[in-house]
Amino acid sequence: MRVVEDIGTMRSLCREQRRRGARVGFVPTMGCLHEGHLSLVRLARSRADWVVASVFVNPTQFAPGEDYDRYPRDLDRDRSALEAEGCDVLFAPSREAMYPQAVRTRVIVEGLSEKLCGRSRPGHFAGVATVVLKLLHIVEPDVAVFGEKDAQQLVIVRRLVADLDLDVEIEAGPTVREPDGLAASSRNAYLTADQRRQATCLIRALRGAESLVELGERRAARLVETMRRIIEAEPAAEIDYVAVVDPQTLEDLETLGGRALAALAVRVGRTRLIDNTWLNVGR
Ligand code: PAJ
Repeated sequence: MRVVEDIGTMRSLCREQRRRGARVGFVPTMGCLHEGHLSLVRLARSRADWVVASVFVNPTQFAPGEDYDRYPRDLDRDRSALEAEGCDVLFAPSREAMYPQAVRTRVIVEGLSEKLCGRSRPGHFAGVATVVLKLLHIVEPDVAVFGEKDAQQLVIVRRLVADLDLDVEIEAGPTVREPDGLAASSRNAYLTADQRRQATCLIRALRGAESLVELGERRAARLVETMRRIIEAEPAAEIDYVAVVDPQTLEDLETLGGRALAALAVRVGRTRLIDNTWLNVGR
């Protein structure tokens, strides 16, 4: 596996592959790779002939005071993990390479970026959309793979691609979970053993909502109430939001009538965790 830091080199390697007729797959990440990321690399390999994964902790999607400085980084481990998955290139640009000067251009996907996580992380999704567009321009992949774990990010990326006529297929991979149900996340490394146990309230809340839907509940408010109750029973957990939304518009739903997304963000200690699940209702 080749490791590339330079944007020009990355671009010409990708162009060379496409010239040879290879289908290029791409998995953008911020590193500290876990099984969730690696499942996306496997998905990309099944959809493409040649796979690039990027590791770049993007400063513009962190607000001042968030965890940019302490975000876990381990490029050597990431490199071995990607190599073991048969990834062809690891693109690991420096901050200076990606942002050689003050940023004056930002991509804002309006109407979607302010909802859910956007409410407590203003500017976050502008940072995400902008860096994703930059990376897509560098790699020019045929297919780019994102995780359903970050459902709002996925909706925003799909909309960015549609609105700007980007010639790339967006593929989604399901959320990979730990045996206790906690969604795999680089930020789980921040949790103490106690907090780790407390954090299972996220998946318990989502499963509570799923069970209610199976029993016939269609009122979103009831589902939100149940999820809140389950999380509030865990004293160490502090709710940021709990919502049942339309999976395209991310607008709050009143009544379930098709596919809905139950999404939540909860703070356990200083660590903000997010999770979500699909709620499927036959029409
Ligand atoms: P990061 O948090 O490293 O995640 C990279 C990709 O892995 C995202 O598409 C995310 O949804 C996916 N992912 C994370 N945890 C997962 C899990 N448990 N199961 C399945 N997929 C999972 O998301 C970002 O980085 C950044 O915002 C990025 C898109 C790279 C832009 O900077």
